[in-house]
Amino acid sequence: MSVGEARPHEAAALHVTGHALYTDDLVVRTRQVLHAHPVAAPHAHARVTRLDAAPAYGIPGVGRVLTAADVPGVNDSGTKHDEPLFPGEVMFHGQAVAWVLGETLESARLGAAAVVAEYEPLPSLVTIADAIAAESFQGARPTMVRGDVDAGLAASTRVFEGVTEFAGQEHFYLETHASLAHVDDDGQVFVQSSTQHPTETQEIVAHVLGLASHQVTVQCLRMGGGFGGKEMQPHGYAAVAALGATLTGRPVRVRLTRQQDMTMSGKRHGFHATWRVGFDDDGRLQALEATLTSEGGWSLDLSEPVLSRALCHVDNAYWIPNVHVQGRIARTHTTSQTAFRGFGGPQGMLVVEDVLGRCAPALGIAPEELRRRNFYVEGQATPYGQPVRHAERIDRAWQQVLDTSEFAVRRKDIDRHNAQNPHSKRGLAITPVKFGISFNFTSFNQAGALVHVYKDGSVLINHGGTEMGQGLHTKMLQVAATAFGLPIERVRLAPTRTDKVPNTSATAASSGADLNGAAVRDACLQILARLVPVRERLDAAATWEDVVRAAYLDRVQLWAAGFYRTEGLSWDATTMSGNPFKYFAYGVAAAEVEVDGFTGGYEVRRVDIVHDVGDSLSPLVDIGQIEGGFLQGVGWLTLEDLRWDSSDGPNRGRLATQAASTYKLPSLSELPADLRVTLLAHATEDGVVHGSKAVGEPPLMLAFSVREALRDAVGAFGPGGIPVELASPATPEAVWWAIERVRR
Ligand code: MTE
Ligand code: MOS
Repeated sequence: MSVGEARPHEAAALHVTGHALYTDDLVVRTRQVLHAHPVAAPHAHARVTRLDAAPAYGIPGVGRVLTAADVPGVNDSGTKHDEPLFPGEVMFHGQAVAWVLGETLESARLGAAAVVAEYEPLPSLVTIADAIAAESFQGARPTMVRGDVDAGLAASTRVFEGVTEFAGQEHFYLETHASLAHVDDDGQVFVQSSTQHPTETQEIVAHVLGLASHQVTVQCLRMGGGFGGKEMQPHGYAAVAALGATLTGRPVRVRLTRQQDMTMSGKRHGFHATWRVGFDDDGRLQALEATLTSEGGWSLDLSEPVLSRALCHVDNAYWIPNVHVQGRIARTHTTSQTAFRGFGGPQGMLVVEDVLGRCAPALGIAPEELRRRNFYVEGQATPYGQPVRHAERIDRAWQQVLDTSEFAVRRKDIDRHNAQNPHSKRGLAITPVKFGISFNFTSFNQAGALVHVYKDGSVLINHGGTEMGQGLHTKMLQVAATAFGLPIERVRLAPTRTDKVPNTSATAASSGADLNGAAVRDACLQILARLVPVRERLDAAATWEDVVRAAYLDRVQLWAAGFYRTEGLSWDATTMSGNPFKYFAYGVAAAEVEVDGFTGGYEVRRVDIVHDVGDSLSPLVDIGQIEGGFLQGVGWLTLEDLRWDSSDGPNRGRLATQAASTYKLPSLSELPADLRVTLLAHATEDGVVHGSKAVGEPPLMLAFSVREALRDAVGAFGPGGIPVELASPATPEAVWWAIERVRR
């Protein structure tokens, strides 16, 4: 039985030996490649007054300069028609206004420097505060309402209000954006792209080139990480490569340097939230009124669905009877912010976790008690009206973490440590996660697969999902091997291509295995059904190979296309209500930290996690996802500090943190010294492939435990019982300032 077996990632050996092929590795295997380099604008906001490509052609090796005039189709790289591929108006510092193709990357770079671009600078909005003050918003402004928030606040015995602001996050996938395009004899375009959404990359390439979709094929071998950053953002780079290839007849490669990737591509949305919250005497939430403003950057991209998911997660695991939450998207002159692991969920949940963490001391209730008291129980529904099925799992995971982490004992140890050490304080906190699985946009919840059984009984599978390190392909191999009862070595998986499985959804919303797994299984079951009469004719000793051979001779079709659509979903984006999620994924984490009072520096000493993945398809992969997601969340909340130049100087709008030297990422040294991950037992999920649950994004939000533990430790530097405000990211500097505030 392959499903449920602890197996290494299907390409782990290739990854660690350097044999795994990524898009840009194809360049050295391809002849006559031209390399592309952007002409980057040095303004946050400006009109392009002159663009003269002629001097670039004087640079040896420059083959072609691409400008708006070259676009045969639509000059747009997005789906909202607000993202000109070659802009006449610069909307962020570093935006490409033209691309230069050269025989070498260096000649392309020199060519780009030689292009004469003149600009008329325009006023710019760089921060979310700038945009709110200027009322610069874009897209829909949804409101989610349940009950009567005014009555709820009026009936509350304790009412608090506050502002919670927190930063975005750079994806920092190891592989930067990459595309390699060529044109075949008949003018058809083939694009290799590091994309989570090959179908949409195909559609954008087609509309830029003025071609039909069937003339464009996109393949994604694998990605060296996507994390949401390659859900929408690869399209423009793929289109530049494809346009270059059609104009020159030669293969064209676009691969961003790290600095280009960081300055040009969108990031996690930072948010600004104002809130009013009411509790009863027992600390039970009565009402929440909030306005969430996301920093969307220069264009919409995925900002609207990200905001929807934020509103749908502002409750996290807590029952709030009266809710009125508004959302809006600030339009600023920065990169266009996009999907990032959790897709707005982390941002929504951070608001309520910050509210609870801040209000607990004022209510005189321990934060862990305040949280638990407000958990959903079976029978209750979210503010958007979806029943919280399996709500008891929150409590079960919570109790398990309390027990196995020896929370109560360690709380006493920590109190003792803190009493004895004036300059070093420890903190402990436990936080829950409830995360909805499925795309809010119902149509995306479909998937396809193509399964071939060859005459020798070996199996080749294709499906619509992409591999970005998350182990989707490993799981799909296990699903197919299980269906056929074959050893996994008899099944091979081929790279994702739009000409094999069409009209796919992005591999996103953590739903890759749910959707594609069900489609793969559907295809396998169709084939198996056709083999039943063949097997019946043969004697009991007949092997799989015997059956397959006999079926072929009998002219039985040995391949099938599989399909799956998630049933029972509904979502009304105007009323922000419905049942958008197939189910919720749950998890709980307890974290202990130690903070130094002189520097604000800290260490995460121990983390205990219990996470619900249903019946795991692949436990090693799932534990890897939990550890990785958790640590990526720790990076977002504690270390990673995006800074744009918001001065009025000449570099206004420039991303100041353009490299790993200035942008701090979590690494092995930030991994908790003691990290214990357990999968929740007895967690079969009905109606999902082999009872499993999605795992990709939810664990990121387990990192709230670390932020709350830091808050707890900071509080210990003060007299106790006072609300602690902590900036996000809670860098050592931010922690130091928080300590200063509680000391005063
Ligand atoms: N894990 C790795 N190693 N690399 C990634 O890029 N992306 C995350 C998550 N885990 C990612 C990852 C994101 S944002 C999502 S939505 C899911 O994987 C997507 O894959 P799945 O649907 O197969 O879980
Ligand atoms: Mo993940 S943010 O849904 O790609």
